[in-house]
Amino acid sequence: MRFLKGNTYQDMSRIAANQIAAQIISKPDSVLGLATGSTPIGLYEYLVKWYKEGDLDFSEISSVNLDEYRGLDGTSDQSYRYFMNTHLFDHVNIDKAKTYVPNGLAEDAGKECARYDALIVSKGGQDLQLLGLGNNGHIGFNEPADCFEPGTHCVTLADSTIQANARFFASAAEVPTQAYTMGIRNIMQAKKVVVVVNGKAKAEAVKNAFFGPITPKVPASILQLHKDVTIIGDAEAFSLIN
Ligand code: F6R
Repeated sequence: MRFLKGNTYQDMSRIAANQIAAQIISKPDSVLGLATGSTPIGLYEYLVKWYKEGDLDFSEISSVNLDEYRGLDGTSDQSYRYFMNTHLFDHVNIDKAKTYVPNGLAEDAGKECARYDALIVSKGGQDLQLLGLGNNGHIGFNEPADCFEPGTHCVTLADSTIQANARFFASAAEVPTQAYTMGIRNIMQAKKVVVVVNGKAKAEAVKNAFFGPITPKVPASILQLHKDVTIIGDAEAFSLIN
């Protein structure tokens, strides 16, 4: 595991964007595994800026997103499809037909999970998977549990996750209670993993995930077994590690 520290959120975002830009430049037809949430917003802003300056070309890139709320349509402003469109896809020359997010409106959850698993395999897997880290150590919507769930699955969200995500909704009651998420095998099969973390609230999760035991109670701890993981954080998120 490699740790890269930026002093501020802005620094952390630039360092992370550099990793993704390097991937795009070295392999222009990369499959990028992408994440939503507040942490990657700054890095997406850098990618858009560098595209506008002519330094990045997304024309051959395809993407698979980690997760999506169940029950939300892609046009709903709280959906992760909408997030990706507004923060990245609408501003760069990516072919939206090659950007994939689980279908929150799928009627049959089992079929949707199987479809998404097959899709990731058909793309040849992620060349780079970007991840945020939940305060409870979750990655995607893989919540603390008794075992690791390998493939794409539909989860009932932990109360702490609903509370943490309530800031994006009018109230906690409006946060969907279920979501589709890539599983641990889907994430671990990425050739390269980049984790972004910022803020004091993540410091404990960083310590537990990357310096504690490997356990499904801290889902991100499995990343200790991946051969190419880079954790990029600001000073606060790294404050409990040396
Ligand atoms: C988002 C995702 C989540 C977030 C995590 C951190 O697609 O899968 O695991 O990465 O909840 O969220 P933020 O960045 O909002 O702290």
